[in-house]
Amino acid sequence: MQHVPVMTEEVLEWLAPRDGGVYLDATCGLGSHTRAIAARVGTGLVISNDRDAESLEMARRSIVDTPERIRFTQGPFSTLVARWQAMQLGLAQGLVADLGVSRYQLTTPERGMTFMADGPLDMRMDRSQGETAADICNYSSELELANLIYEYGEERRSRQIARAIAKGRPVTTTGQLCRLITQVTPRTSRTIAPETKTFQALRIAVNHELDEIKALLVALPELVGPGGRVVTISFHSLEDRILKQHFQALGRSGQVRVLTKHVVAPSDDEVRRNPASRSAKLRCVEMAVSEE
Ligand SMILES: C[S@@+](CC[C@H](N)C(=O)[O-])C[C@H]1O[C@@H](n2cnc3c(N)ncnc32)[C@H](O)[C@@H]1O
Repeated sequence: MQHVPVMTEEVLEWLAPRDGGVYLDATCGLGSHTRAIAARVGTGLVISNDRDAESLEMARRSIVDTPERIRFTQGPFSTLVARWQAMQLGLAQGLVADLGVSRYQLTTPERGMTFMADGPLDMRMDRSQGETAADICNYSSELELANLIYEYGEERRSRQIARAIAKGRPVTTTGQLCRLITQVTPRTSRTIAPETKTFQALRIAVNHELDEIKALLVALPELVGPGGRVVTISFHSLEDRILKQHFQALGRSGQVRVLTKHVVAPSDDEVRRNPASRSAKLRCVEMAVSEE
């Protein structure tokens, strides 16, 4: 399986990796950004992190050109500082976070993230721990489910969908969930399937995605040194809002310099080649250099 990386040229341009530097890829996925950065660091290092052990293993096996320039670490953003400090590398010269899920995770039916194929209703990026989407569907109250689908999916029919799920319990497969959703949501758009928002909401809840982004943002001063750049790519408005507001606040307090005054979008050519990149938004900040 080949992951089609998003905005690799732009990541390199904004991260501006230097010979001998240590860079942190917070979201290795199948390793395309890691590989591109490793090719630019000369004698430096890329520490590549992902909470998904299966993706990391695939990345590890596929990186043959510069393996000595890359070290892998597995876990969520919320434990990254502890794992980073254990490596005793000081502060990184830059960090990239390409958020959300990879095409590999999204399109592998056994991961339970896609409504395009039947599979177990799992959705965990790290399959070794935590609640699955089936647990959430089966053990949350109808009101909790409705709130979650509304908040993380921005789905107007959240209450009807939550009721259908509660009545259809136990829900164990993606196919079963799709049937429950489509019973109460007529197809209104030719491009967006009725299941899209509910699947997005459950995935965000299962993986605590928004809290994880906040944990990464709070950890930045313990990960990236003065003058180091932080490049983020987000794929939906809930993520981008958190990034934008946090970077603006850090900018106002002088902790970072916001380098991208407006979000950077993929080129028309990239969107033509990879339509899945169309909603990507890149932001970049530079950690402040103290004046003493
Ligand atoms: C869009 S993919 C990254 C693709 C990668 N840049 C590449 O070039 O192949 C996002 C990756 O981030 C990982 N991820 C998402 N949230 C995470 C978190 N909170 N902690 C660690 N990894 C996370 C996912 O498991 C997924 O593999």
